[in-house]
Amino acid sequence: MYEICPETAADEDEVEALYDLCFAPGRTALSSYRLRDGVPRVADLCLVLRDPSRFLMAAIRFWPVRVAAKPVLLLGPIAVHPTAQGEGLGGLLMRDGLTRARGLGWRRVLLVGDAPYYSRFGFARLDAVEMPPPTNPDRVLGLELRAGAWVGVVGPVLREETPEIVAGLAEIAATPHIGPACIEVGHPRDDTAGRETADGSATDH
Ligand SMILES: CC(C)(COP(=O)(O)OP(=O)(O)OC[C@H]1O[C@@H](n2cnc3c(N)ncnc32)[C@H](O)[C@@H]1OP(=O)(O)O)[C@@H](O)C(=O)NCCC(=O)NCCS
Repeated sequence: MYEICPETAADEDEVEALYDLCFAPGRTALSSYRLRDGVPRVADLCLVLRDPSRFLMAAIRFWPVRVAAKPVLLLGPIAVHPTAQGEGLGGLLMRDGLTRARGLGWRRVLLVGDAPYYSRFGFARLDAVEMPPPTNPDRVLGLELRAGAWVGVVGPVLREETPEIVAGLAEIAATPHIGPACIEVGHPRDDTAGRETADGSATDH
């Protein structure tokens, strides 16, 4: 079985190496990284996917940002090892990350990426949300984890300056649902594998 777990300090070097492998040199010079510098990641949502040999196959990270004073999750980077791309592992990690995010009470997610890929998870262009330049506005995409969560949330994307991120999520009223830290998943190409979707329902793939 494959395993998806929250990233720990022990995973950090491997995750950085995977990102270096999958992205062009200078990835940290991208404007989106200015929103991340010095801001703690959302630790519960940074996930690693390992194969049965414990090899790191994929990783995803999330950071907190603000738009119009509202808390927003910035998704990315996500990367799948080049030897396993196109096998559905990226989709597994996206869905698990988004399911966990909803369970923790997050309402809206933002990313900069290719709409043809991310639209399958429900992401759509955010016309009035501005990433730091230079960012192609066509690549600024959002997803509502609660209906209407992006309505009226417009303007520049700003760094999360609240020292204690959880305290900054004052709009979250309900007690967050904390799921298991690690989950086992079958390979997406294995027809017998069951898994959870972003809307929390189980599905066979
Ligand atoms: C993008 C990435 C995370 C997707 O993960 P993956 O496991 O390879 O993708 P999946 O197997 O879940 O999905 C495969 C499908 O997505 C499509 N796809 C993958 N990347 C795409 C892109 N950039 N644009 C459009 N479609 C894309 C494939 O064509 C395939 O389509 P199909 O289902 O119609 O055959 C992975 O390919 C990767 O790490 N790429 C390099 C790093 C990167 O670009 N990261 C994203 C930016 S933060």
